[in-house]
Amino acid sequence: MAFYFFIINFLVFMPLPISSSSHNDSLGLIPVKFLDLIQENELFDWMVGIRRKIHQNPKLSFKEIETSELIRAELEKMSIFYKYPVAKTGVVGFIGTGSPPFVAIRVNMDELESVEWEHKSRHDAHVAMLLGAAKLLQKHRHELKGTVLLVFQQAEEGGGGAKKILDTGILDNVGAIFGIHVSPSLPIGSVACKSGPILAAVGFFEAKISGKGGHAAIPQYTIDPILAASNVIVSLQHLVSREANPLESEVVTVSKFQGGSAFNVIPDSVTIGGSFRAFSKESFLQLKHRIEEVITTQASVNRCNATVLFDSEKEAFNPVTVNDQNLHKHFLKVATQVVGERNIHEMPLLLGSEDFSWYQEVIPGYLFFVGMKDEKKSVDELAQSHNFTVNEDVLPYGAALHASLAVTYLLENQHNSPKQSSHDEL
Ligand SMILES: *[C@@H]1O[C@H](CO)[C@@H](O)[C@H](O)[C@H]1NC(C)=O
Ligand SMILES: *[C@@H]1O[C@H](CO)[C@@H](O)[C@H](O)[C@H]1NC(C)=O
Ligand SMILES: *[C@@H]1O[C@H](CO)[C@@H](O)[C@H](O)[C@H]1NC(C)=O
Repeated sequence: MAFYFFIINFLVFMPLPISSSSHNDSLGLIPVKFLDLIQENELFDWMVGIRRKIHQNPKLSFKEIETSELIRAELEKMSIFYKYPVAKTGVVGFIGTGSPPFVAIRVNMDELESVEWEHKSRHDAHVAMLLGAAKLLQKHRHELKGTVLLVFQQAEEGGGGAKKILDTGILDNVGAIFGIHVSPSLPIGSVACKSGPILAAVGFFEAKISGKGGHAAIPQYTIDPILAASNVIVSLQHLVSREANPLESEVVTVSKFQGGSAFNVIPDSVTIGGSFRAFSKESFLQLKHRIEEVITTQASVNRCNATVLFDSEKEAFNPVTVNDQNLHKHFLKVATQVVGERNIHEMPLLLGSEDFSWYQEVIPGYLFFVGMKDEKKSVDELAQSHNFTVNEDVLPYGAALHASLAVTYLLENQHNSPKQSSHDEL
């Protein structure tokens, strides 16, 4: 898939009114301490080095194997126990007691687009952040009140990496999972977050519309699939404009139209394809159902037959990314300590999607955004630049947030988890 959407570059972030508790609680000053620690020159330079190594080595592009090698080497240097391979090339590190509660932090390490609207070069920053968090957590491993799982996820062609990690069972008994994204439109040192749905469910369809080819001069002896496909595409536009709730965002886009190769020959068939998006499972399934119905019945109006396929091997569907309400409160508390209340913004809804949503189907999960706007660049420059560059000053924020979210989660949940659950691997 060659297209990336840079929607996030154009967003305006609204300040988020939050009512965090104003008194100092059990969290203490861990998050603040972590940020100070990781911003020290030595650790900062180390994270920057990792990011550049992944980013600049052309051999690493499209080969998560080598990124995975680098991650394993760094984990070994820190004496962090890990499991590999997890679902082919994935790596999962473990820090802490080896007992519950378990909390996971996940990043994508691959160069493929499991985040379909995101430029691939951001993943190197995410990996560097998680290794930074690993450094902080390992340093404080004796104070951890449970176990942190560091999930370096592979994506596979067209996503599906999250699902494969889940299938291995390695995340069984995990009580919460956190994910991060850098954002070039948010100021450095700030975060954006939201409870509930934040990214859309996305699905893909492809339809073959078959008629009967022939000469353009004698259309009466043909069944024209080009005309049928054209009518299908127009009819598909009505799904959102006439059938969807105007207060709920949905998208149906036909982005592929293939058929015919001559000026005077009507082809036998036409293939069309596209994607559809919605913010609830119900709307998503309804769209899917109607897309198939509209394509087949509208094609028959023009005497054509149509077959519709969803979710090809290359394009797997993602559910809605829904942030857990309790983890949202947890995030606000921790982020207030790391970046300060003033720097926490409300994340606007995006119709992009993330395969992090697969985790959230089975584990309470939370995806948040951390700002890295480079004040030296104009908004126009940022918006136009498809050569996304990472503002490396963001790395300590990501690392400190990851580590703090995990540590404080374990602190707060140490008495809540069932005693008998444990991780066989440990
Ligand atoms: C929390 O504790 C820190 C350090 O002891 C102190 O600087 C800060 O003022 C305290 N905040 C509140 C709201 O008590
Ligand atoms: C559509 O399918 C029917 C039933 O299989 C078949 O009889 C008909 O010839 C097909 N029409 C086209 C245009 O392929
Ligand atoms: C992106 O990078 C390529 C290669 O370095 C360069 O040729 C191109 O002009 C850049 N595009 C933008 C929009 O900066």
